[in-house]
Amino acid sequence: MYNFMYHTPTEVCFGKGVLADTGALVKKYGGKKVLIHYGGGSAVRSGVLEQVKQSLDEAGIAHVELGGVVPNPHLSKVYEGIELCRREGVDFLLAVGGGSVIDSTKAIGYGLANEGDVWELFEHTKKASGCMPLGAVLTIAAAGSEMSNSCVITREDTASKRSYNDEIARPRFAVMDPAVTTTLPAYQTASGCADILMHTEERYFTNGGNMELTDAIAEALMRTVMKNAKLLKDDPDNYDARAEVMWASSLSHNGLTGCGNDGGDFASHGLEHELGGMFDVAHGAGLAAIWPSWARYVYRDCLPRFKKFALNVTGVENVGTDEEIALAGIEAMEDFYRAIGMPTNLRELGIAPTEEQICEMAHRCYVASGGPKGSAKKLDESDMAAIYRMAK
Ligand code: NZQ
Ligand code: ZN
Repeated sequence: MYNFMYHTPTEVCFGKGVLADTGALVKKYGGKKVLIHYGGGSAVRSGVLEQVKQSLDEAGIAHVELGGVVPNPHLSKVYEGIELCRREGVDFLLAVGGGSVIDSTKAIGYGLANEGDVWELFEHTKKASGCMPLGAVLTIAAAGSEMSNSCVITREDTASKRSYNDEIARPRFAVMDPAVTTTLPAYQTASGCADILMHTEERYFTNGGNMELTDAIAEALMRTVMKNAKLLKDDPDNYDARAEVMWASSLSHNGLTGCGNDGGDFASHGLEHELGGMFDVAHGAGLAAIWPSWARYVYRDCLPRFKKFALNVTGVENVGTDEEIALAGIEAMEDFYRAIGMPTNLRELGIAPTEEQICEMAHRCYVASGGPKGSAKKLDESDMAAIYRMAK
């Protein structure tokens, strides 16, 4: 078991009707003038934005708005937000949306609290010394950004999708009403579930340290998400199923399911971020399309974990060699992805990268990772290209 630091400062306000508490929470954390940051309009159409504004008004908190955050959020919108906040004297940031909106908000927070170009953080040439305080009203269970230390931004002119992780950007609070997620298109619900699963899988498939309790939590989380993702496919208004995956989205990426290991693998995420940067695909769907090829490429180097996953998560029978059981677990995951309408390869994802694009993505992934990436198996640039080819 490895030493670990577990830091989850985010106050969670969870359940039916909690949007009404937003204003009081902003006040509690010292906000007097707030930027409400949101996406392409779903929060307007669903009435979520209106409820949030009403709650702020009732708490006597002034606010300005900036919408238009796109999935795989753009750096240009971050610059726009920084400008607006400076002009308006904003002292607290409120994200109303999913991972893209929350990450755009975190990046604005960095930009406001640090000198120079905020993109330097994402190039890892500089470390942040602060971040303006922020809160999140979550509208999609997926990225886990509402409790995570991570922020992922795409620079449009170079199609570079990059992440920057820092404890100081964890939201002060997260308002989570599962009912709000019932307006999601089925594809986004499923893509969110794929991402939630991957945040725990990335931590589970490791060759560095393990802890029985962490594994048990991780396995329960993955089983729960798989069960409820399937329920939601047929019954999207099922509140309890929405609640299960929403809470899982936060716990899957706040560090809990990695306590005691080496930090996990995260190669699938690295590979997907390049797909997102180049082809602008939905993040969770991109992960589902990459994972089976990654798994088949690395499973021999992490066999005990793949066997344990097959038996304890996918419910494969304990029959055959370890390798056969591990492969049956990978197949079971593919069946699960298909059952919820997720792709299991790049073709099904709707993209067909050329050999040149594959080499470019592998190179970028290697550079962004600062060298070889992974814990189940350390991948170099040629391994990364091989996995993209397998996934075609
Ligand atoms: O923009 P709007 O109109 O709001 O529509 C969004 C968007 O099109 C829609 N949506 C959200 N809530 C809705 C809704 N539609 C109807 N009803 C609702 N209640 O869903 C679409 C996807 O939204 P987005 O925020 O992009 O989804 P997600 O939460 O999956 O975030 C993806 C981004 O997060 C990054 C990903 O790379 C990607 O850029 N990640 C961030 C992480 C973090 N900060 O910890 C970790 C993840 O691994 C991930 O990399
Ligand atoms: Zn993710």
